[in-house]
Amino acid sequence: MTDTKTNAQYSLEPPEIARNPHGAYREIRDNAPVTELGGRSHTGTVTLSRHEDVMRAFQAPEVFSSDPGAVDIGNTRPLVPLQIDPPHHRKHRKALDPLFAPKQMAKHEPRVRELIREIIDRVADRGHCNFHHEIAEPMPSTIFLELLGLPTSRVEEFLSLKDGIIRPPARSLEERREMVNATGQKIYAVLEEVVETRMADRQDDFLSTLVDAEVDGQPLSRDDVVDIGYLFFIAGLDTVSASLECMVAFLAQNPVHRQRLADEPEMIPHAVEEMLRYESPVASAARITAVDTEVNGCPISAGTRIHLLVGSANTDERAWDHPDEVDFDRESNRHIAFGAGVHRCLGSHLARMELRVALEEWHARVPHYRLADGVELRFSQGIRQIDNLELVW
Ligand code: HEM
Repeated sequence: MTDTKTNAQYSLEPPEIARNPHGAYREIRDNAPVTELGGRSHTGTVTLSRHEDVMRAFQAPEVFSSDPGAVDIGNTRPLVPLQIDPPHHRKHRKALDPLFAPKQMAKHEPRVRELIREIIDRVADRGHCNFHHEIAEPMPSTIFLELLGLPTSRVEEFLSLKDGIIRPPARSLEERREMVNATGQKIYAVLEEVVETRMADRQDDFLSTLVDAEVDGQPLSRDDVVDIGYLFFIAGLDTVSASLECMVAFLAQNPVHRQRLADEPEMIPHAVEEMLRYESPVASAARITAVDTEVNGCPISAGTRIHLLVGSANTDERAWDHPDEVDFDRESNRHIAFGAGVHRCLGSHLARMELRVALEEWHARVPHYRLADGVELRFSQGIRQIDNLELVW
């Protein structure tokens, strides 16, 4: 029988664990696979950490619901499609999937390559950079704002709104909720203004496409478009940057892997998948139980918030051979860094293309790089951003 009482000795919050979580993941999986972790961000939330349990939850939305009660991200209406359960969820994905299909995303590759080259040019001859501020943040956010149809001239403002939701500088849960709610209202205001403009005057961007989109034969309402835009804003402005940072931080500390990508750029797509598995930049997903249930012999009552520890599932020795080894030649890499089941990531093809192109261009220009002396990397919780990724070459 497993124990769902708070296990204060297991916390993912200390900086040294956030930097290198694999040992903690293993201890949690082995000793407390269904538990309330210690630390502020997990109060009242049951964490599942084994691959089998996480997969079961992803694949049973009727038990593990994505209802807005699962997580506080400042929205007052459900985010579409993330916080909609089946069967309605499927109708939304049917409308959205074609927009993000691999063929559509491939059309944007030349622009991604042009932009990342320009950005790398600014630092390549300097011999050092802050990879977070100078490379990983500007590239995906510029691309995403262009695709969505929000003004790139306001990128700093949008990034700070996104950070105000994902990592607000709060000292208590109450303060966190207040900050997130206030930021959410600002995001609604930005989106409402742009969607109004697009309703009057279409442009070549996603928001205009959504204004004309139909779900179940009905046009989307202004609120529907705003609710999709809100989720894109949060999902699109953070995840690719954080993933690129996790990957480059790993490579900067593992010269054999770094050199291999410099020598064999054709390995980059495999390396992207393997580092997504090992680093799991989006380390967890949120659910709330719709009914009383049981996991691993442990009762969980309806209405419990659930934390699916994706990073742990992706390194569970019950599901993977040599899980703690980063092996670019790994065969059959069915990682769940993009989630699993009906809510599997809509933006995965865009993300993969951006990560591949960024790593190709970076290693072509800056093949030999390492962490600057004395830097202790600072990983944020949840989505693993590293704001002090100082590199030298
Ligand atoms: C490497 C980058 C990315 C990672 C690791 C990632 C990861 C994830 C994960 C784990 C989920 C599942 C969440 C859940 O089940 O609760 C998800 C869903 C989602 N992602 Fe991503 N994501 C990435 C990039 C993007 C981008 C660039 C977009 C831009 C549109 C995006 C849009 C979405 C959306 C809309 C969903 C919800 C899908 C649904 O509910 O049907 N993601 N993502």
